Amino acid sequence: MKTDKDSPLLLYRSLADSLNSLIEKETYRVGERIPSVRQMSKQQGVSISTVLQAYLLLENQGWIESRPQSGYYVRAMVRDHAPEPEISSPTKDPSQVSLHELAMMLMRDSTDPELVQLGAALPNPDYLPTEKINHALTKAARRHAVDGHKYIIPPGLEELRIQIAKRAVLSGSQISPSDVLITSGGLEAIDLCLHAVCHPGDIVAIESPMYFGTLQTLEVHGLRALEIPTHPRNGLNVEALSFAIQHNPVRAVIVISNFNNPLGSQMPDEKKRELVELLARHEIPLIENDVYGELYFGEKRPLVCKSFDKKGLVMLVSAFSKDISPGLRIGWVAAGRYKTELEWLKFTISASPPTLPQYAIADFIESGGYDHHLRRIRREYARNVELMSSAVIRYFPPGVRLTRPSGGFVLWVQLPENVDSLELYKKALASKITLAPGHVFSATNQYANFIRLNAAEFTYTTERSLERLGNIIKDMLGVAGLDAVV
Ligand SMILES: Cc1ncc(COP(=O)(O)O)c(C=O)c1O
Repeated sequence: MKTDKDSPLLLYRSLADSLNSLIEKETYRVGERIPSVRQMSKQQGVSISTVLQAYLLLENQGWIESRPQSGYYVRAMVRDHAPEPEISSPTKDPSQVSLHELAMMLMRDSTDPELVQLGAALPNPDYLPTEKINHALTKAARRHAVDGHKYIIPPGLEELRIQIAKRAVLSGSQISPSDVLITSGGLEAIDLCLHAVCHPGDIVAIESPMYFGTLQTLEVHGLRALEIPTHPRNGLNVEALSFAIQHNPVRAVIVISNFNNPLGSQMPDEKKRELVELLARHEIPLIENDVYGELYFGEKRPLVCKSFDKKGLVMLVSAFSKDISPGLRIGWVAAGRYKTELEWLKFTISASPPTLPQYAIADFIESGGYDHHLRRIRREYARNVELMSSAVIRYFPPGVRLTRPSGGFVLWVQLPENVDSLELYKKALASKITLAPGHVFSATNQYANFIRLNAAEFTYTTERSLERLGNIIKDMLGVAGLDAVV
């Protein structure tokens, strides 16, 4: 009789698991070649395709790498040996946000071609499907010569909404095309959500640290941020949020449940469920930002909180800015019970997102190009995050802590207490390097000795810049400072 163990699905996983444990026990050491696919297939009595699947899984998880014409090798997982930052412990009171000057300064840096860009969370331009999307745009312009210049009033292009609804199944949510509203990027979607459910002075609970674009949206709306402790790997602490809700009139909650910017954290499914249930009991809307959700390093698309939503309280936001094009400005929101209000708001504020990009993206997804493209860039980003983590450990002074992102492409680095990241930012600029100082990730300046690095790109220049950055930090610490951290 066939058992579960014989199922090909479990076979490749159990092969991957046993190889993984051999790597952990250093039976296979870093840099060493593991048996070829053919050898492994013979050794284990399993098919070539099972071995290939197991190796692909290990490769995606960063344990091994394939070298052309040579085979598979064990990779250095340096980041797993570096300490992580501790769970954050922000102040317990809500606070007004005032970050626009700092944020504008970072924005200006992000377009300066003279600087090595480690600051803004921009995707690697080489990992964008620019040629294919340009081709899809040309095709759309030809096909929709006249319609391509008309408004597409909310909720947006149906063909695109169908593709989005189909993909949403992979993240566990059952949404229909009519639930989806196309927006001009993810930021606009978040803005519309806040507009729909909050009034100036209201309290919005957020993960701490939090992406500064969201903090600025709170600032624009005159909302107060209530920062909630967040674990560097498992994301928002739901118990702490529950406590905060008991003591504050929280009007809405914002999370980046998959690959928080700047932490790279991913909330476990059970925590996502707990969060949705908690907010359902209190009738509090959740704005879930999933712009990085497709850029996972593991085997499977992680679920979204929206998949546990029974009351229509979760507004799921995403965009194609991180994986197709930041400049096309196409995002979307599935706003549950707030859908009609958001459609009206979108229409009132900007009528329609650009038309031709909607056609082009719908076509790119439908043709299978998007999936193919994502499979490639997930591996590239996982590798670059790993390489940048190793470089940080190599060049920064002892005592730094860094996150272990399971998706996305940013790294959050905790420097010794006495290094002010704004001072470091200024010194780095003098060396033509830009980074994101921790100051901008909190309304209450919790992260003065943290920096966020963009690991989307890792080249020789990136590595030399990290070495330079490490030296600047060591200079800032001086000998006495170094003693204090070791
Ligand atoms: C978490 C998060 N949300 C939203 C955005 C911006 O999305 P968009 O460019 O689609 O407005 C970013 C960009 O850095 C981000 O990191």
